[in-house]
Amino acid sequence: ENEISFLTEIPKCEHHLHIEGTLEPKLLFELAEKNNINLPLNFPATHEELAASYNNFSNLQDFLDVYYIGCNVLINEDDFYQLTLEYLTKVSKQGLKHTEIFFDPQSHTSRNLSIDLVFNGIKKACDEIFVEFGITTKIIMCLLRHCSIDDCSATLDLAEHLIKDGKIHGLGLDSSEKPFPPELFEQVYLKAKQLNPELRLTAHAGEEGDSSYITNALNKLNVERIDHGVRSIEDPKVIERLANEKIMLSVCPLSNVVLRVVQDVSQLPIKKFLDANVPFSINSDDPAYFGGYILDNYLEVQRRFKLTKKDWAFIATNAILGSWCDEDRKTELL
Ligand code: ADE
Ligand code: ZN
Repeated sequence: ENEISFLTEIPKCEHHLHIEGTLEPKLLFELAEKNNINLPLNFPATHEELAASYNNFSNLQDFLDVYYIGCNVLINEDDFYQLTLEYLTKVSKQGLKHTEIFFDPQSHTSRNLSIDLVFNGIKKACDEIFVEFGITTKIIMCLLRHCSIDDCSATLDLAEHLIKDGKIHGLGLDSSEKPFPPELFEQVYLKAKQLNPELRLTAHAGEEGDSSYITNALNKLNVERIDHGVRSIEDPKVIERLANEKIMLSVCPLSNVVLRVVQDVSQLPIKKFLDANVPFSINSDDPAYFGGYILDNYLEVQRRFKLTKKDWAFIATNAILGSWCDEDRKTELL
């Protein structure tokens, strides 16, 4: 009881949230019907069956195959608006103060949607929620690592105006990790930074890939933080570097269980990160698919680790310090 209200009240910042991963089964079917999208023949027939099928992912790719089908039902600006508004409305009740939202332009531009339509839908919801609840947001575009370098580069061209004027605040890298190591994207990251030197950089690394993915993301892509990064624990040198250079990991506990990175949350190196002074935040990744939003992830960490108030203060403070919000917002949250 007390613990739940304590964890609800802690000011939370989210840094690892794919907006397409907030598509609840119910909304997926509603939008498919509204937009006349034919789902694959072997797709579950109801939202209940779809939700039940999410227990059976055996790895990241298995999940991504379903996630990309879900993306196809998003067609109009209003669909992206509704999706984002539903996410932000939910987390407004969970003590969320600031969130950095990923979107995957290529999942939509490949279907001939314009990047502006997608961006504007997301942004409209963010602006409304700021007025209503004071929650601040930043929007980060992610490149899909299973797409060609040319396609990624062309996607930067499509986003050029949004990157140049700072509406897109950061660049990330997601999708199938293992066959596509970070160093493949060195030139693409360089090009993005040239469009706007203030663009913030991150990348998924060390979810399924080993700790060399983390090192190469830092060395070749010049990222400032690492999404997931839990396999850093396999290399003491990497752990030492993350602590010394204050590189934050955006850890996603429930995601790691559902995608079988670990068997249960107790196997995550949360205590080791705390002991080693590695900054990390706790995030939901794709909450509609992984069984919980940000507070659910906090609660599961607490259920498994029984952290002290001091530990939680360390986590909450690092999540604020690692945020890409404006400096005065940081001060306000600290
Ligand atoms: N796209 C959406 N969620 C992802 C994850 N957890 N890892 C890689 N790509 C993703
Ligand atoms: Zn992710």
